[in-house]
Amino acid sequence: MNAATLTSRASGALRGRVRAPGDKSISHRALILGALAHGETRIEGLLEGDDVLHTADAMRALGAEIERLGEGRWSVRGNGSLQEPGEIIDCGNSGTGARLIMGAAAGFPITVTFDGDATLRLRPMARVLDPLASMGAVHLGRAGGRLPLTLRGGGLKSISYRLPMASAQVKSAVLLAGLNAEGGVEVIEPELTRDHTERMLEAFGARLQISPEADGRIIRLAGGQRLRGTHIDVPGDPSSAAFPIVAALLVPGSEVTVQAVLLNELRIGLFKTLREMGADLNIDNVRDQGGEPVGDVTARHSRLKGVVVPAARAPSMIDEYPILAVAAALAEGRTVMRGLGELRVKESDRVALMAQGLEASGVLVEEEPEGMIVTGVAGGNHPVRGGAVIETRGDHRVAMAHLVLGLAAQAPISVDEPEMIATSFPDFIGLMRGLGAAIGEA
Ligand code: S3P
Repeated sequence: MNAATLTSRASGALRGRVRAPGDKSISHRALILGALAHGETRIEGLLEGDDVLHTADAMRALGAEIERLGEGRWSVRGNGSLQEPGEIIDCGNSGTGARLIMGAAAGFPITVTFDGDATLRLRPMARVLDPLASMGAVHLGRAGGRLPLTLRGGGLKSISYRLPMASAQVKSAVLLAGLNAEGGVEVIEPELTRDHTERMLEAFGARLQISPEADGRIIRLAGGQRLRGTHIDVPGDPSSAAFPIVAALLVPGSEVTVQAVLLNELRIGLFKTLREMGADLNIDNVRDQGGEPVGDVTARHSRLKGVVVPAARAPSMIDEYPILAVAAALAEGRTVMRGLGELRVKESDRVALMAQGLEASGVLVEEEPEGMIVTGVAGGNHPVRGGAVIETRGDHRVAMAHLVLGLAAQAPISVDEPEMIATSFPDFIGLMRGLGAAIGEA
């Protein structure tokens, strides 16, 4: 879709059962680990969003044989090492792709140039380049290690690295480099972050030692481990499921079920928070899917109240603050969100951009250096004014969050750059329309 803007307007009850697209974090990792492994990896339910497709192209350029067998069904064949690519690795909009592939590539004696779109070029890469440099990789890039940059890997030595920020991407980059570091690596994680890399490394046959500490945990990985291709069944992405779920909570009369949603403890901070706000959320049919818990999440229209979200919960819902801020806009009272420093270095400065967009729709937002406080307008009695054209700066989650708000606002809400939604949720519009949402081009 190349419409200049996309508009959502007040909708009747949303109803239906849908499947969320495949989890983005797990999809990137399945392609990257498949390329690093020996033999074939079969993937089911891969997210075919632009971010992940860039990672597939990147791993192909780095020497893996990658084939799409059908919708969400992919085959990856690796030979245990990466080759020097003949082209620049374009990571598109994806910080996860860029940072994890840098970690993986650093383990081999190859020179790789990375680039990305205008947004990714603004995002900090020093956070992975610093530990990789301590291990012996060499890089040349712009100030702050910004893209485009060139990395030369190989001959890595062991490190013990304490994460200076709660980032699964940094943790994963160090672990992936550690696979080919003499003596392996140790990562100290003071605040727990999503553990898909650790779980998937084990599924590929790697041995990790994970020790809980008073604060967080220590992950040790021996170097020179051989990964074997495996089968990965990708669960539904809770970060994408969040949009139809919150839409159902906000639009009177709604009842929506999202099936097979990933319920990993380190990803479900939003669901906990919504329940504390009074959301009618029911999770059933909980089962195991490829080593991760999944379940069906049913949301019914609810009267929400503002809460104080514990700052320590931020890593388990970091991508969900834009849509939580929308839920907060329709809740009764203030919702206080703190510990959001990392939210300012995502696909956009999501604290500033959400505050600006919500204010344009008539919502009161107080912005703090590492937080925001949204004062809600108390549910269906006083819907949000809306009637705004929102600047998204190409941020897919900011766009989807405001489109959800438009479904429960007095006047339509439009977003610019709607084509960016395809980075994480290519069928967002089709899925939402199927539930009854009035989202369209005019
Ligand atoms: C991700 C980790 C998070 C998250 C991103 C995906 C991952 O980023 O925001 O969308 O797949 O590891 P950080 O590691 O920068 O917190």
